[in-house]
Amino acid sequence: MSIEVKDLSFFYNKGTSLEKKALDKVSFSIVKGEFVLITGEVGSGKSTLIRHLNGLLKPHSGSVKVSGINSTNRELRSKIGLLMQYPQRQLFGKTVFEDVAFGPSNFGLKDDELKERVNESLLLAGLCRDIADISPFSLSGGQMRLVALAGVLSMRPEYLILDEPTSGLDPENKASLFSTLKKLQTTGISVIIVSHQIDDFLPFANKVLFLKNGCVDFIGSPEEYLQSVSSPIPELTSLMKELQNCGFEVASDIYSVEDAFNEITRVLGSKEVYKDE
Ligand SMILES: Nc1ncnc2c1ncn2[C@@H]1O[C@H](COP(=O)(O)OP(=O)(O)O)[C@@H](O)[C@H]1O
Ligand SMILES: [Mg+2]
Repeated sequence: MSIEVKDLSFFYNKGTSLEKKALDKVSFSIVKGEFVLITGEVGSGKSTLIRHLNGLLKPHSGSVKVSGINSTNRELRSKIGLLMQYPQRQLFGKTVFEDVAFGPSNFGLKDDELKERVNESLLLAGLCRDIADISPFSLSGGQMRLVALAGVLSMRPEYLILDEPTSGLDPENKASLFSTLKKLQTTGISVIIVSHQIDDFLPFANKVLFLKNGCVDFIGSPEEYLQSVSSPIPELTSLMKELQNCGFEVASDIYSVEDAFNEITRVLGSKEVYKDE
């Protein structure tokens, strides 16, 4: 099971005077269970690329295949969950329950099984099951995003695509999202995160794709990404590089608080070990 993108090119307003090439011969693959960070500046083609992964857009040339099937095939819809950049727009139900239950009930889940699936999805998204009976539109913007995430998770997709998932989230909801991602890392699901905020997501990724003007500028592991000269690096990596410049013998391929803490205390000769929470 994998996603194979081969020589994908796409134009907006093709054939008109406003024609704009948004993707230029993009190729890469994602195998099941990988956490991929797709990053790049605003306008580099990230959202256009992921709309091809779940078949919302069709390539003008090249191909996008999921397990060998063209991504526009409707059969794949339930396998690929997409949380859009403005997921509040994905909500429509009178209650949170109705929203989260929509996908699985269309696939025939009923009664207790459906209730269980909704509860499971709300909990996985970091929400309390008590909110199931209230209107999603009475919630804060951040919570609405998490409800939309629960709706996507309720389909138990094999691939989960999140477009700029932290934009507009307050620290509490951001923490909920990170804890959801940590849980998902243990389930074998593939997660594709689109974000220009590399600091937030590099610690989760095992593959990074950097887009520039619609082309793949870099693809590789987070460690290789940090060594690549032209791409932006996380603040923690810059800090470690600054410490190196000041004569401290620390490693610089570091991007999580935990690793930075351990590396600094190692160099300072302390035996303390950073503990999460
Ligand atoms: N609906 C659209 N019509 C015309 N041009 C678009 C449309 N959506 C995006 N673009 C253009 O395509 C390029 C890639 O956009 P997008 O995929 O949204 O980038 P990103 O998600 O990296 O910010 C940009 O130059 C953008 O202006
Ligand atoms: Mg975008």
